[in-house]
Amino acid sequence: MTASPTAIPTASFTGIPNDSLDQLHADMATANMAPTWVHVSEFVSRQPAVHYRPWLWRWDDVIPLLMRAGDLITPERGAERRSMEHVNPDLKHSFSASHTIATAFQLVRAGETAPAHRHMASAIRFAAKSKGGEIYTRVEGERLMMQENDLLLTPSWTWHEHANETGEDIVWLDALDFPLVNLMQASLFEPGESGQVAARPDDWTDLRLGPVRPEGWADYPDHHPVMRYPWAEVRDRLERLRGEAGCPVDGIILAYVNPQTSGPTLPTMSCRAQLLAAGFQGTARRATASTIYYVIEGQGESVIAGTRFRWGPGDVFVTPNWAWCEHAAPGGDATLFSITDAPVMQMLGMHRQEAHPDIHQAIDGDFAG
Ligand SMILES: [Fe+2]
Repeated sequence: MTASPTAIPTASFTGIPNDSLDQLHADMATANMAPTWVHVSEFVSRQPAVHYRPWLWRWDDVIPLLMRAGDLITPERGAERRSMEHVNPDLKHSFSASHTIATAFQLVRAGETAPAHRHMASAIRFAAKSKGGEIYTRVEGERLMMQENDLLLTPSWTWHEHANETGEDIVWLDALDFPLVNLMQASLFEPGESGQVAARPDDWTDLRLGPVRPEGWADYPDHHPVMRYPWAEVRDRLERLRGEAGCPVDGIILAYVNPQTSGPTLPTMSCRAQLLAAGFQGTARRATASTIYYVIEGQGESVIAGTRFRWGPGDVFVTPNWAWCEHAAPGGDATLFSITDAPVMQMLGMHRQEAHPDIHQAIDGDFAG
């Protein structure tokens, strides 16, 4: 009969000849143990330990590269998509702009399709440059049309494929939570065939989840709603709210909500559109969440962690978590679209935010990229 493995030995261990702390550390390392008393500050920090910096990618730098890919790459099985990731210089290992969210510009040329697949990562598309018409992402059999600046969702593990049946190219912004999925070591991917999911009529989701809905019939299936948020409606609301006080940090800001819950756009990512009216100067705030911005219209600037980023249409920039951030539109109206991982932190009870004690942060210099 052996002793209980849970019993704590009662014999003294201090009698080991010539024992020392160094020897204990060495023996612990051999046993794959680490002394908390040495390393605690490495895994419990007083402030969030953030290992990447704010960054900005200019439209004029990126789009020529994307168009070159238009001549050199086709979005077929294997390559899957003709898209280019925004890679933060500190996050090359995860191919992403923030530690949880990756964004990319994707080009689908006139007449092209991109094959059906599904994956654990959730995705959003923001139709940055679209002439409209028969351009769509088909999600779970439903066509989501892509007029300029429309937002559409590809929730986790939903079948999706892209088609551009027009004579014009389209460029859109993708945002995926794959850095978070990979942190959780939970990535799944499955290729599929076009048409394997039964087609649904256009607006199938909207007819079930709009402000008036079927009652007692035609319930929405169990998965996250396959939403399309038309820009025309969002833009109109921003304009009509222009005269309101808005948020001192973000101006007139609107969240794209899940119509079933009024909660975040997706479980892991929340999307917002905001109007910074001419002359707006927001106050500084920081939060335990990261945010990636896409400039829809106008010129402006954001000060992030002491660096001033001047931006214009089509630019993309990232605010890491716990970085002080403030926006301004000194020269005229500006409109931003953004994606944040705040829902993850809220869901986990780890969301914190605070206002800057001096209202604005000191500016150390301009982003030189
Ligand atoms: Fe995909």
